Amino acid sequence: MTVEEFRKHAHKVVDWMADYMENVEWYPVKSQATPGEILGRLPDTPPSGPEDFSDFMHDLDEIIMPGISHWQSPSFFAYFPANTSPPSILAEMITATLGAQCMIWETSPAAAELEEKMMIWLRDLIGLPSQFEGVIQDSASTSTLAAILTARENAVNFRINEEGSADSGILRVYCSEQAHSSVEKAVKISGIGRRNIVRIPVRDDFSMDPGKLREAVENDLAKGYIPCCVVATLATTGTASVDPLRETGMICSEHDIWLHVDAAMGGTALILPEYQWMLDGREYIDSLVFNPHKWMFTNFDCSAFFTRHAGLLIRTFEILPEYLKTRTRGIVNDYRDWGIPLGRRFRALKLWSVIRMYGVEGLQEKIRAHIGLALALAGNIRNEDDFELLAPVLINVVCFRYIPAGKGERELNEINENLNHRLNDTGRIYLSHTVLNGKYTLRMVTGQTNVTAEHVEKAWQQIRDTARSL
Ligand SMILES: Cc1ncc(COP(=O)(O)O)c(C=O)c1O
Repeated sequence: MTVEEFRKHAHKVVDWMADYMENVEWYPVKSQATPGEILGRLPDTPPSGPEDFSDFMHDLDEIIMPGISHWQSPSFFAYFPANTSPPSILAEMITATLGAQCMIWETSPAAAELEEKMMIWLRDLIGLPSQFEGVIQDSASTSTLAAILTARENAVNFRINEEGSADSGILRVYCSEQAHSSVEKAVKISGIGRRNIVRIPVRDDFSMDPGKLREAVENDLAKGYIPCCVVATLATTGTASVDPLRETGMICSEHDIWLHVDAAMGGTALILPEYQWMLDGREYIDSLVFNPHKWMFTNFDCSAFFTRHAGLLIRTFEILPEYLKTRTRGIVNDYRDWGIPLGRRFRALKLWSVIRMYGVEGLQEKIRAHIGLALALAGNIRNEDDFELLAPVLINVVCFRYIPAGKGERELNEINENLNHRLNDTGRIYLSHTVLNGKYTLRMVTGQTNVTAEHVEKAWQQIRDTARSL
């Protein structure tokens, strides 16, 4: 493709993108594709010669789009949002065009220094103390793995990195029963072993019970285990419950345990002064992850990982082959030493674009509006006798179920599971579920960039009508 041809096609692609943004609301929000359907429509072999870009665009519309679930639809209420925005997409186009590898400062000084500055902006925006330094990772799963590996090395004085784990003792990692599966994955991958993740029971509001955490740590110490890391969550995936940071932090500090905070989604709410209470106890935090790619209008991937011990993080990951030696080592940030991959995308650019185009007040306004929608929905649910809320609504997640009279628990679970599938199969809204205290629970999250009160009201109407017609 020549540059002139690129220019021509790119204009058409941008028109396609703008049309998509205008019309996304009318697509079936959850793809209605059946397993293998898209695979069967794709040719078995690649073309032997060049094809026209217009044929590619034709197949995008005909083959691929029916198999896309529309996360950017304002009727997407499932999981957690992976929202985006025009300023983010524009910057991402530039990142792809530059195609820079941002592994070390020298391979793109501006990328490294913009990343450093964006992490300072974000750190200050969410209210972390100034000792924290940040780096952009691809996902919260990677950030949590980086935290647990650093905590592991810190606990054994870097012996496992050097000698392997044979004589290092049994390390233990603690998190609540509601913590995200990425914690378990990190414990497996880190060699600590899934058996050594200790799931702490939660209180009635689904937050970690600090009394039970203390008991677990003290029991483990008595058995000769090495408590290595506690992961506290600000906004758990199931209910957006918030673990008590101060009490958790005091236990960590008493026993010299690394405190990692998973604020993958909830971190965005920290940009609101009225949500700073979640960070009470911040002086105990060793590391924290927050994903702007979830709820801060920055398209996937962009996970902000902060630690007050950048030296320990770097010592855990650094490696210095001859071909990566530079004259600037030690006076700049070489982010390849701050995590797992060597090659790194220029992700800071989209963050810069988003923060500048919205401005802090613009971001705050949208986040407040999203939280307001969740609170209003919760109010509507409370007003109906045949629906009930199943968890407190703190941020943007509403957990509820349909409770028609005269049904037992098992029947209610079947009814609500059926309701969830029925709703998603219409293609008009997309919800996901969890199970709380044995109850099948519908979850509705109001965090999509363009969601409005009208979308939430329409969805609620559809939920009520569908439930009552079952
Ligand atoms: C609380 C929490 N932590 C971690 C993750 C994992 O995020 P990522 O997809 O960036 O790895 C999620 C995903 O929804 C989450 O809800």
